[in-house]
Amino acid sequence: MTGPAGNASTILTNIGELMTQDAEHRVLTDAAIVFEGERIAWIGSAADAPAADSHYDAAGRACLPGWVDSHTHLVFAGDRTAEFEARMSGQSYAAGGISVTVEATRRATDEELGDLVTQRAAEAAAGGTTYLETKTGYGLDVAEEARSARIAAATADEVTFLGAHLVPEGWSADEYVRTVTGPMLSAVRPYVQWADVFCETGAFTPDQSREVLRACRLAGLGLRVHGNQLGPGEGVQLAVDEGAASVDHVNYLTKSDIDALAGSWSSWNGQSAWNGQLGQNANNRGTVATCLPACDLSTRQPLAPARELLDAGVPIALASNCNPGTSYTTSMAFCVATAVLQMGLTVHEAVRAATYGGALALHREQPNDDDGRLAVGSLAVGHRADLQLLDAPSATHLAYRPGMQLTHAVWRGGEPVR
Ligand code: NIG
Repeated sequence: MTGPAGNASTILTNIGELMTQDAEHRVLTDAAIVFEGERIAWIGSAADAPAADSHYDAAGRACLPGWVDSHTHLVFAGDRTAEFEARMSGQSYAAGGISVTVEATRRATDEELGDLVTQRAAEAAAGGTTYLETKTGYGLDVAEEARSARIAAATADEVTFLGAHLVPEGWSADEYVRTVTGPMLSAVRPYVQWADVFCETGAFTPDQSREVLRACRLAGLGLRVHGNQLGPGEGVQLAVDEGAASVDHVNYLTKSDIDALAGSWSSWNGQSAWNGQLGQNANNRGTVATCLPACDLSTRQPLAPARELLDAGVPIALASNCNPGTSYTTSMAFCVATAVLQMGLTVHEAVRAATYGGALALHREQPNDDDGRLAVGSLAVGHRADLQLLDAPSATHLAYRPGMQLTHAVWRGGEPVR
């Protein structure tokens, strides 16, 4: 039946396992789901399902929310195969490799760069990603960062300004931070919602990082931090102190880092954000720890302590970190498999981190009355119809059959994309 807004409805029946990742953490068998236009209209047992305009037989396949990839760097040209090979022969990763990509990116035309971003986003969508963040950070001058932001905004759902990715050659750090927080921030501002900083040895010090974050917050941007990737450091504490939505990488954490992250959620309505309870308002949100296992494997860093974070009450996200230096993959399924096989998460937890967790890190897990956008990252009535079917009877197959292409079909806002 056509819905109240006049949108055509679609029903998926014969779903082997429906993993909702909503506040009730439901896993339904013999389930059906109905969407009208871009919204989910009904979820439940197939026996009780209402009629719909069109019908899709899932043939016993598993259905879960589309992936929410909350950390990518898709705006780049060139590749870094030689650096990867050197790393596999024992060299360590260092932030300086970013400059190789900056040179290649600056040489690309707008059209070339736009095509590369579109192709990578399409690859992600074909693998089940239905909501995508991406960053600037390979331009590193005013005009190039603005160009990267503009190109990113044409494709990604959320764009992050990462002018503070590396101090480019020929600049003093102080002079560059003044540029990032001044003319560069103004130039990118129309295209971005978030700002990020690489707070790490070889990139930006905690003081420089704080200066960048504060200027960006004053400009109205939400904050994120690349922190504790290559060694212990102040990135996590900085992210919590500055009210960042996420701190990403989190490979080297002390107990006090984990306590600080857990403490950042203590006023979320007294409820657990990870369990999907709504917070009272935007001001009591804490900092999500975003784990990037594909990057950890490619850089041979210890995997982020996802199990300890969850056990301490810290909400986590899993993201691909697709970039040419440390993680050249858009595969969220690979991240989920690694999180189960190597990081001690259950399948349900890993899928939750790659869907609801990513949405929480992007402040998109709840509907937004200000901009009218629907909630993403979980399947519930009223949420955006972003879902995927696996060529498997359960989500467990993501880890049980690692490396297999299991994505069978994908809908984004109710529209088929695969
Ligand atoms: O998230 N850590 C900083 N940025 C990227 C890597 C960038 C690069 O090496 O090109 C990351 O891993």
